Amino acid sequence: MKSYTLIGPFSQAVTMANLPLKGALSDSELQIITEAGILIHNEKIEAIGKFSDLQQQYNGANVMELKGKHVCLPGLIDAHTHICYGGTRAEDYAMRNSGKTYLEIAQAGGGIWDTVEHTRKASKEDLVKNTIKRANRHFKNGVTTIEVKSGYGLSVKEELKMLYAINDANKTCLSDLIPTCLAAHTKPNDFDGSNEEYLNEIYANLFPKLKEEKLTNRIDAFIEKSAFSPEQIQPYFKEAKKIGFDITVHADQFSTGGSMVAIHNNAISADHLEVSTQTEIESLAKSNTIAIALPGASLGLGCNFTPARKILDAGGALAIASDHNPGSAPMGDLLTQASILGAFEKLSNVEVLAGITYRAATALNLKDRGVLAKGMLADLSVFHTNNYNEILYNQGNLKPCMVWKNGKLAFDKHKS
Ligand code: NIG
Ligand code: FE
Repeated sequence: MKSYTLIGPFSQAVTMANLPLKGALSDSELQIITEAGILIHNEKIEAIGKFSDLQQQYNGANVMELKGKHVCLPGLIDAHTHICYGGTRAEDYAMRNSGKTYLEIAQAGGGIWDTVEHTRKASKEDLVKNTIKRANRHFKNGVTTIEVKSGYGLSVKEELKMLYAINDANKTCLSDLIPTCLAAHTKPNDFDGSNEEYLNEIYANLFPKLKEEKLTNRIDAFIEKSAFSPEQIQPYFKEAKKIGFDITVHADQFSTGGSMVAIHNNAISADHLEVSTQTEIESLAKSNTIAIALPGASLGLGCNFTPARKILDAGGALAIASDHNPGSAPMGDLLTQASILGAFEKLSNVEVLAGITYRAATALNLKDRGVLAKGMLADLSVFHTNNYNEILYNQGNLKPCMVWKNGKLAFDKHKS
């Protein structure tokens, strides 16, 4: 029994259990256990229920008794970020707010290319250090799993450097990092050839290496006028799928086209979708592809939010991620952004929480987290309140007081 730890009582444990992957959700569907206990064994949740029942049932377990008000959520999951990078784009932000558009800045050699230059200049060790620093900040905000894209290397060698850095950072940071290859972010300015030739070079010379070195099992592409067209990406995704990679797409951010490619390729997610129309929304809802709203990019660029309400009402699956990156989404605060999206898009609290827990887990093909239930990883975000509604109501200002990862208390506000 000594390898069992019982934590509680929590005023509320919001389990996120037994909810559908797709469609609208109402707060009455939420399973909340009051005066709850969570029993942990070997990194996982062994049991969840009333604290007093578990105490009797597992007499002999270590008990970590909590005093005062505490609400427990599953560890939050950020399914889309670009937190491995060098440099800053504060100048871009200033220029955009003075009237230049994101695309104009990119076309003038700023934008993504600026970050590519700084990322290429950074050593792998610098990238590891920066990634850990950003991931650990997110961890303290309750995020226990973070997807991290490459895409600021844009050559076989530099993309590999980024993906090694993300994998190395994963070994020491507090959260789990899920690496994704975004070599198809845009054609680099120094590549002497067409978009097609660049993509050929990547799939011929980078994909086998990714597989061999087990650096990622996810391939992303930016489908946009300033990046790659649906036609250019199709052969790239075909090669990716042949190797068995999961597909994810930066879709419909400034112009439509990307989400249809995502659906056609049975992509695991289509992310952004700020300009998706009813046609794209309905097609997504009928598909297996999860829509990921990125409110941080809307806030960073000052543009419309993803039509999250419409996606849910059409029957789609909606996750919410921060898109934390130096260009379009510099804030990097998932809980704040998800709360704000909820207020603007009229999402129920359970829809918002689903988007940053189990629906986000599914968008990353992770079946062992996002829900508080027996057999799941004991990743817990705990807040100092007795009412889960306070968490989104405070729009990110109520931070977790404790965060557990794999059954270990890895952040305790009282001790930091
Ligand atoms: O998700 N849209 C393209 N890619 C990133 C932005 C990257 C950047 O501007 O550095 C995004 O918003
Ligand atoms: Fe992105």
